[in-house]
Parts: sequence; structure tokens; C-alpha cells
Amino acid sequence: MSASSLKDAPANWPSPHPQLRTTSRRRTQAFNSGQRSGASPFPPFLIPVPRSLASAILIPASRTVSQPHSSRVYQNSPRVHELSPEERTLYDTLDPSRIPQHVAIIMDGNGRWAGKRALKRFLGHQQGAESVQYVVETASRIDLPWITLYAFSLENNLRRPKSEVNFLMKLLKSYLVSNVERMNDNNIRMAYIGRTHELPSEVQDTMRWAEAQTAKNTGTTLTLALNYGSRSEIVDATRRLAHSILAEAAHRGISLEDMLAAEGVDDALNTRLTEATLASNLYTAHMPDPDLVIRTSGEQRISNFLLWQIAYAEIFVTERLWPDFRGLHLLEAIADYQQRERRFGGLGETSDEDLGSVLPTEPELTR
Ligand code: FPP
Repeated sequence: MSASSLKDAPANWPSPHPQLRTTSRRRTQAFNSGQRSGASPFPPFLIPVPRSLASAILIPASRTVSQPHSSRVYQNSPRVHELSPEERTLYDTLDPSRIPQHVAIIMDGNGRWAGKRALKRFLGHQQGAESVQYVVETASRIDLPWITLYAFSLENNLRRPKSEVNFLMKLLKSYLVSNVERMNDNNIRMAYIGRTHELPSEVQDTMRWAEAQTAKNTGTTLTLALNYGSRSEIVDATRRLAHSILAEAAHRGISLEDMLAAEGVDDALNTRLTEATLASNLYTAHMPDPDLVIRTSGEQRISNFLLWQIAYAEIFVTERLWPDFRGLHLLEAIADYQQRERRFGGLGETSDEDLGSVLPTEPELTR
């Protein structure tokens, strides 16, 4: 990335929140002076499976997050005094032991927000980027371990005008450069999921830089889903699994056919292709599944976001447009989530009917 990258942003970017308009020269200099060293060359899910990795289909230790019931013991976050008075009032009504481990957000409505004000769409995206920072900082103050934001879908990449895609890329770079210091101040670690290797190389450089700059942080992990699609994630995971099985055969010095035949093909596949092995090859293998999915702007759909991972998530849809969404609204969604009874396909805690001697009655169908 060049020192002029921030100049790529439209010159007339207004910010109604000057506290978020940070001077970025120092950080840009740090970036240009090579403080990128230490950046992991690729997110783990982009690393090709080496032939020697015969055991790649085993579940990595990092995937041992217990689900669906977490044993994590929550207490009041030590940073609640940093919440705004309104946030604090709402936070005090929450049960700290039932703060979700992972919240995923479909940020929608930037265009409508701009349209309502007769502004260009890009200003809606720009305002949306500010919402990102507000919401993530509140998440860090309440000690939310994981927050994942749908920032740019594969479909956005393919179906939006080139000029809008280009603007979103510039906005992402600018956002990262401008906010890394705030991320560090808030102990937030940055990560990404998606086919990020297909993004422009200068954007990838900035992403890796921000990831490296925040890698040592131990608070909230902010994961941006970029060039992300859930179906393609499942396809990528399946390919990785297939490669790991081929690598296993190569490692053992036998053909795939012989390896599978030796165990019995069905048994061999049933062991290697399971929900756990597929999940351990998703981009999200290192994270717990989301407990709560929030969608802004009122649309009641999932839009190819984390389809596998949200199997049992609670869904909260708000009419509020993303650029108007703040930390307080995150807390409102969590308050609503805490009213839900999560069953994971089972029964509620109060259900103890004895059905031992009950037979179903014949249905009386009418013509
Ligand atoms: C939908 O608005 C939102 C997106 C295209 C993705 C979210 C992008 C941002 C919040 C901005 C940048 C993010 C970062 C992390 C810097 P839309 O255009 O679909 O809204 P509409 O449905 O009202 O048209």
C-alpha cells in the first residue's frame, strides 16, 4: 500500500463523529516503514494442505470449543465503566453468565440510509464503517469474545457496479489503517474469513498488516467476512477434506483406492467425512458457532452467511438501518437473546412428560 492510499477516499468525506476521524498519518507511516513484519502470510484457511499433513482431517485442538453449552464463566466485564450511561443501564439488566460467545451481524441498509437523505450510496457505506467501530468497541467493553461482520459478500463482489466495489475496497483499507490503533486500545484482534485471496493485492496487504498489528490482543476477536459466501466456504472445506484424504494415502505410500478398500469403503468414508471433520475445515474452524445473528434493515433472510454455523443460532432482525446501529442496539439484541429459550433441537427444561404408554391416535382425515 502506498502512502497515498488514504487520499484515494473521496475528498469530501464528512464525518458526523469526529472522534472516529482519527489522524492516520502516524499509522500509515508505521505501515510503510515495514511494521508489517510478523504478519502471517495467509489466514490459516488459505494455506494449501501439505502432502505430509496426513492427519489434517483430525479436529484441531482449537476446535474444542464446547457446543452448544459453554462452560465459560462470565462475570461483569471489567470495562463496563467505559460504556455510555444508556448502554450501562441496559447492560446492568443483562445476565453476565448469558452473554453470547459469538455474535454475527448482517450489516444491511447502507444504501437506504443514504437514499433517505438524498445522499449518494457511498456515503451510506462510509457511515456504516463508523457504525462498525462503535459496535465493535461496545462488544469489547462487554467482553464479547467473538463478533463476525458480513462486510462484503461474494455476491456483492460479482453483482455490484465496479465503481461501488472499488469504493468499498478503498473504504476497507482506509478503515483498517485508521482504526488499528483504536483496535489495540480496545484489545481487539482482527481476523478475516472468505475468499480473501481474490481481493485486490493492496487490500490484502493492508488486511495482513492490520491482522499482524492486532495479533497479540486477547479481547474480542473481530472477524470481517470479505468476499465471503457460505456455499463457497462449504465447497472450499470439502475440497480441503478431499485433499487431506489424498495426502493421507500419499503419506502412507498407497493408492487412495487401496487405502479405502483396506478399511472398507463405507467405514473409511464414514470415519473421514463427518460433521466434525467438515466443520474443522471451514474458515471458522477456530471459532465457536454464533449464538446470535443480527440483521439490520428489516430483511428476513440469511443471504448466504454462515449457513452451517448458524444452525442453532437465535436470529434478531431490526428495522434499524446499519448506519444508525450502535453499541446500545447490540445490547438490545443481546437482551432479546437472553429472553429466548435455546433448545438445540431438544426440549425445554420444564418438559418431563412420561410418554411410555401413550400411542399416537389415527389421524381422521376429511375429504
Ligand atoms: C449493505 O448495504 C452493506 C454492505 C454492502 C456491506 C457492509 C459494508 C459496510 C458496513 C461498510 C464498510 C465496512 C467496513 C468493515 C469498513 P446495502 O448497500 O446493501 O444497503 P441497501 O440494501 O439499503 O441498498
